[in-house]
Amino acid sequence: MEVKTSLLDNMIGVGDMVLLEPLSEESFIENLKKRFDHNEIYTYIGSVVISMNPYKSLSIYSAEKVEEYRNRNFYELSPHIYALADEAYRSLRHQDKDQCILITGESGAGKTEASKFVMSYVAAVCGKGQEVNKVKEQLLQSNPVLEAFGNAKTVRNDNSSRFGKYMDIEFDFKGDPLGGVISNYLLEKSRVVKQPRGERNFHIFYQLLSGASDDMLKKLKLDRDFSKYNYLSLDSATVNGLDDAASFRTVRNAMQIVGFMEDEVQSILELIAAVLKLGNIEFKPESRVNGFDESRVKDKNDLKEMCELLGIEQSVLERAFSFRTVEAKMEKVSTTLNVAQAYYARDALAKNLYSRLFTWLVNRINESIKAQTKTRKKVMGVLDIYGFEIFEDNSFEQFIINYCNEKLQQIFIELTLREEQEEYIREGIEWTNIEYFNNAIICDLIENNKNGILAMLDEECLRPGTVTDETFLDKLNTVCAEHQHFESRLSKNSKFLTDHSLPHNCFRIQHYAGKVLYRVEGFVDKNNDLLYRDLSQAMYKANHNLIKLLFPEGNPAKVNLKRPPTAGFQFRASVGTLMKNLLTKNPNYIRCIKPNDKKAAHIFTDSLVCHQVRYLGLMENVRVRRAGYAFRQAYEPCLERYKMLCKQTWPHWKGPAREGVEVLLSDLQVPAEEFAYGRSKIFIRNPRTLFFLEEKRRQCLEDLAALIQKIYRGWKCRTHFLLLKKSQVVVAAWYRRFAQQKKYQKIRCSALVVQSFIRGWKARKLLRELKHKKRCEEAVTTISAYWHGTQARWELRRLKKEAWNKHAVSVIWAAWLGTKVRREYRKFFRANAGKKIYDFTIQRIIQKYYLGLKKTMPSMSPIDKSWSTCPYGFLDGTHQELRRIFHLWRCKKYRSQFTEEKKATYEEKLAASELFKDKKALYPSSVSQPFKGDYVEITKNPKYQKLNSLVEDKVLLADVVSKINRANGKGTPRIFLLTKKCLVLADQKTGQVKASVPLPDLSSVFVSTQNDGFFALKLREGATSAAKGDYLLSSDRLIEIITKLYCTGAASAERNQIKIDISDEFLVQFKQDKVCVKFIQGTPKNSNSVSCKRKNNRLLEVSVPSP
Ligand SMILES: Nc1ncnc2c1ncn2[C@@H]1O[C@H](COP(=O)(O)OP(=O)(O)OP(=O)(O)O)[C@@H](O)[C@H]1O
Ligand SMILES: [Mg+2]
Repeated sequence: MEVKTSLLDNMIGVGDMVLLEPLSEESFIENLKKRFDHNEIYTYIGSVVISMNPYKSLSIYSAEKVEEYRNRNFYELSPHIYALADEAYRSLRHQDKDQCILITGESGAGKTEASKFVMSYVAAVCGKGQEVNKVKEQLLQSNPVLEAFGNAKTVRNDNSSRFGKYMDIEFDFKGDPLGGVISNYLLEKSRVVKQPRGERNFHIFYQLLSGASDDMLKKLKLDRDFSKYNYLSLDSATVNGLDDAASFRTVRNAMQIVGFMEDEVQSILELIAAVLKLGNIEFKPESRVNGFDESRVKDKNDLKEMCELLGIEQSVLERAFSFRTVEAKMEKVSTTLNVAQAYYARDALAKNLYSRLFTWLVNRINESIKAQTKTRKKVMGVLDIYGFEIFEDNSFEQFIINYCNEKLQQIFIELTLREEQEEYIREGIEWTNIEYFNNAIICDLIENNKNGILAMLDEECLRPGTVTDETFLDKLNTVCAEHQHFESRLSKNSKFLTDHSLPHNCFRIQHYAGKVLYRVEGFVDKNNDLLYRDLSQAMYKANHNLIKLLFPEGNPAKVNLKRPPTAGFQFRASVGTLMKNLLTKNPNYIRCIKPNDKKAAHIFTDSLVCHQVRYLGLMENVRVRRAGYAFRQAYEPCLERYKMLCKQTWPHWKGPAREGVEVLLSDLQVPAEEFAYGRSKIFIRNPRTLFFLEEKRRQCLEDLAALIQKIYRGWKCRTHFLLLKKSQVVVAAWYRRFAQQKKYQKIRCSALVVQSFIRGWKARKLLRELKHKKRCEEAVTTISAYWHGTQARWELRRLKKEAWNKHAVSVIWAAWLGTKVRREYRKFFRANAGKKIYDFTIQRIIQKYYLGLKKTMPSMSPIDKSWSTCPYGFLDGTHQELRRIFHLWRCKKYRSQFTEEKKATYEEKLAASELFKDKKALYPSSVSQPFKGDYVEITKNPKYQKLNSLVEDKVLLADVVSKINRANGKGTPRIFLLTKKCLVLADQKTGQVKASVPLPDLSSVFVSTQNDGFFALKLREGATSAAKGDYLLSSDRLIEIITKLYCTGAASAERNQIKIDISDEFLVQFKQDKVCVKFIQGTPKNSNSVSCKRKNNRLLEVSVPSP
């Protein structure tokens, strides 16, 4: 069963101020204090959440807490900001009601933190997904960016928001965030140029100087030292617990997540740097002829650097600090600025630059977080606006801020009452009029279009003539004198003439939250918020996109003589829009309270809290809430909570919940005027009644608890007893079993001992008997063995004797027979058998020799020289003869396989061997090469067709040879053709015949003994072909060519044989000259190839590589 809890459970003080009894300011504060001391920082007033700033981190914002509050009713759990956020988110999602969360309170009360808790709660409970998460991340990350630029350390708060912020978060129908829109209100720009004691400028200045890299600072022309900048107050430049450098990294990261481009970030930082530089510009007076002083820039370095940063022409800006152009009705008048005016202009420019940059930043963030779809959206607005401010010295800013708070209070009252009223009507309860203070009258004093203070101020600002803060105060004194909330010393209301707490230059307004004294000094200036046109024009001329964008009015093409709307006017308009916007939404209030001024945990300053409780109108809030009925609750949870108070409803009520509640209340005899039955809720008029019910419930719970305890204890004891009983039986059984087991073991052991003794005794007895028996048997056996042995030996001796006699006889007989046989054999063997045995033995040996030879026969190859060794010396001659016969037979067999063609080839090879073997070193390499004859395929190659046709006979050899030139020893390729009748030399490329030598003309051929292919063809003297002289040729196939030439010559019967001359020096006849060709062994230098060199006219030297 689900356990229903309630805000009323474990309450410290009261969780809802509506239930406070008795209701007084003291008890109110006492209750807050009690809760604060117990870290209960949230308390309700109905649906309004009061939040006390704990000034320490509490563990109440964990993911588990989010889960705890998720989808729970508002009053179900102890008060928490998550309950409000959950309520708002659920009614947005399920009831399709736009929501707004209004967070108010004074500076440092925790508004910004509260807004962040609300946003993070909504982010945690709404949908998930890549796109949704990105939107959430962008919405959440917009906070650090805005805080860096819009927050500053003040005496009240180290992270004080110096602008008002309203953020609309947009959701789709499922409740997933789509995007958001941020509106900003009145940035406190005066802080840029001056900060009160103990306060700092906006965080971003310190973050930039502490966190930027050296490179970046150099680029921005900045120095890390804060003291170099006039606009940065030094007394509190660093804040405890704030790491500016780390924050700078966080801000840059957040800007990246939100979607800022790198160049945009750079531009923003340039502007920040420019503001710092601007603060350092100083002026000095320079006298003019007309007697007036004119301002001049003192040290132009900062001005120069600032102009470089923003791309502004230095002279233009410098002039704008010295002159001012006033345009009126087509006329332009230029007046000089004195030093004070120049400083005013400089500060005005810095303030404008910064505040416009801030507005641009907000717009830029809006562009990024804008919802992408155009479908209808549900909206949750979160308003984190500056709270009511009462300082010692209050100026225009406080006036504006307090005006805004008046407006918020007004809609708070309106909406709270309206809601109360609507609920009564919804529930059908009669509406009783509630008295409350309506601050509309104060709002009217400030914003009335005719005679409101803002309208008066605007009127003064626009009025021609001398306008000062004093003239403005005069005006107020006359117009507002009668107003009951306006007080001034000089007003026509004589009541204040003697009020010394009211200085002459001040006026006082009685705000709903208290009286505030405003000093009029600066009201007119601040309301005007003027920036000299020369300055805005100088800015517009900058060569910097962002600056140009920030000062559109500086565009000379769009000169507008109309005054820009005043600050007050603008603020009033934007507050008006905000109010309209809020009125369309369902409001949820968070009222933040600051417990002390020391920013310290655990300190609760009663007076400070009391002051805030007063001006936040919290007591009124409670009264309004209690004016009708203090407490209301739906019937079901009410019945569920109190049903134990009545017998009929306990433990279960069968009928409708309302009837159950009716039965319950009548049974308890609660007076009828104390409650009213609504349609879905019961309304209880007095907290007393509720506490009566609660008390009764507590008592009843105690009784019930006692009953439950009693039954439980009884049950527990009974179960325990039964368990003991059961255990005892089990233990006894186990014990008995164990004892019996032990006894049995003992008996068994004894039996075994007795048994073993008896068995031992028996065995020993038997053993003894057996031993005796065995000994008797052994004796008998031994005796009989001896006896048998003796008998056997006797018999053996007898037999031996007998056998000896027999053997002697047979030996003698055999010897005699042997002698007889030998005598016979000798006679016979000598006559016949000797020769036969010899022949037989020889035959057997030869037979064995042949069979052995058969097995070891060599192969049929004629060149196989192997032959087995002869096993018998007397067969040596036969063995060698058989070898010769076998070789001849083998050669015959080999020859018989030859074709005619092969035979001719072998004959040639034989001829080559006869000619060259052991005579020429080239020969051995040629043996394995077959003689192919035609190497150029003369019949097939079309190139040589003509050459082939010129040769009549069959070509025996065709090859490419080198014809050696006698002049240089170099070779020219030639086709060498040999037929039966002649040899032909032809050109290798064309096939043209160069020389044809009939074979009879060839007398001899010269070759060397070495490993070269040179050969000389010596022609017969007087032959016709010898006219050109002999031929010195070279070919790798020399052996084949010469052999073929020799064989062809030998085959022809007509002529003498060609002589083959082998020597390393021979004479060659070239035409008339005789040249000696000499072969030498090559030197190591050119020993790789054969080279022929001409040494002189008579000597050609061929160098042959050494083998
Ligand atoms: N719920 C909280 N838990 C812990 N610390 C808190 C809480 N609320 C506020 N604080 C502390 O109080 C400081 C001031 O809070 P915050 O900045 O929200 O005040 P503020 O109301 O926005 O003030 P201002 O009007 O000056 O902007 C925070 O910096 C934080 O240290
Ligand atoms: Mg704040």
